[in-house]
Amino acid sequence: MLTSYAAHFDTPAGYLDFARFGPPSRDAVAATARALEESARADHTTVDGLMRAETVARDTAARLAGSDGRHTVLLPNASTGLFHAALGIREGVVLTPSTDFPANHYPWRRTADLGRATPRWLDPAPGEGVTPDLVRAALTDDVVAVSVSAVDFRTGFRVDLAALREAIGPDRLLIVDAIQAFGVAAMDWAAADVVVAGGQKWLRAGWATGCAVLSDRALESLEPVLTGWTGVEDVGVFDGVEHPPSPDARRWSITNLSPVTAAAFAAALELVEQHSVAAIEAAVAERITELTEVVVAHGGRVLSPADPARRAGILSFTLPDRDPAVVAKALHAEGVTPTVRADSLRFSPHASTPPEAAERVAAALSSLRN
Ligand SMILES: Cc1ncc(COP(=O)(O)O)c(C=O)c1O
Repeated sequence: MLTSYAAHFDTPAGYLDFARFGPPSRDAVAATARALEESARADHTTVDGLMRAETVARDTAARLAGSDGRHTVLLPNASTGLFHAALGIREGVVLTPSTDFPANHYPWRRTADLGRATPRWLDPAPGEGVTPDLVRAALTDDVVAVSVSAVDFRTGFRVDLAALREAIGPDRLLIVDAIQAFGVAAMDWAAADVVVAGGQKWLRAGWATGCAVLSDRALESLEPVLTGWTGVEDVGVFDGVEHPPSPDARRWSITNLSPVTAAAFAAALELVEQHSVAAIEAAVAERITELTEVVVAHGGRVLSPADPARRAGILSFTLPDRDPAVVAKALHAEGVTPTVRADSLRFSPHASTPPEAAERVAAALSSLRN
């Protein structure tokens, strides 16, 4: 556990569902309350003042991605970024894993319906994720992009972004849904052209927060199909004529976001930056190792990669002959919050998760033996 980081949270010890939702820090809650209270007493300075949080959040996200403010834009969620990317591709085939979270499916289904980019589904072998070999085998001349999750929501499999870039070459776009990784896994974001993240999970910023980081290649080649009035040059000039899209990542802005959620996002990102992704990642890895040991010791079958280098903060498993709903009931009784699926369970601890979490899981799984 990263004690100095953990001191910012009130999350119960047994909460192990960060891959679904990351309870925000006291800092993010306070920033939200402050911004909303200020808005309630608005005068002529208030709105402009509150909107400064957007620049802070954007620049902090950019630094965490190894990029800069010109290449970074705030978004209300990850899906909006995936839609921007998808609609920006005029034509061609996009390789997308059939196993990905559906947020990375629907944008490509919609573009196919519009006669633009069409998806070709990649089918990773069970227990595997998207490997460079899998991508290489699917590459044909009409493939213009690969769109993939940095960390698989089901298994925690971590893709090798640099190796994927090498596999697809410099001209195809690499689009990455980073929501299960950004801020908790040091990955080679510079290898990607589009990195989108929502802030409601591992970043612990609360809902309606997120960002996208674009490469120069993405800025040049993606058509700004969804650019709204806030994404153009001379935003404040209401002269009735069409303004060109902003030359930078702001071209992905459709309208103003909430400065209240931007304040929460800024506070959350600053907390990550203060404690460092490397330290957070190491603390998560320690908990995953412990939880894996407990699950295996109780006869569980682990569905996540065994190699620590190929996994992030997600541990999926089944207990043979036990319905996941029954296992969940035992876990709930010990104050543990897992993700419960029809066919499996998932633990996703954070750097604030204490060692006590594994003890609670052990007690719950032991109770099932009786
Ligand atoms: C991999 C992945 N991508 C996208 C999403 C959805 O993100 P958002 O609600 O920010 O669009 C989720 C989870 O809800 C997810 O696990």
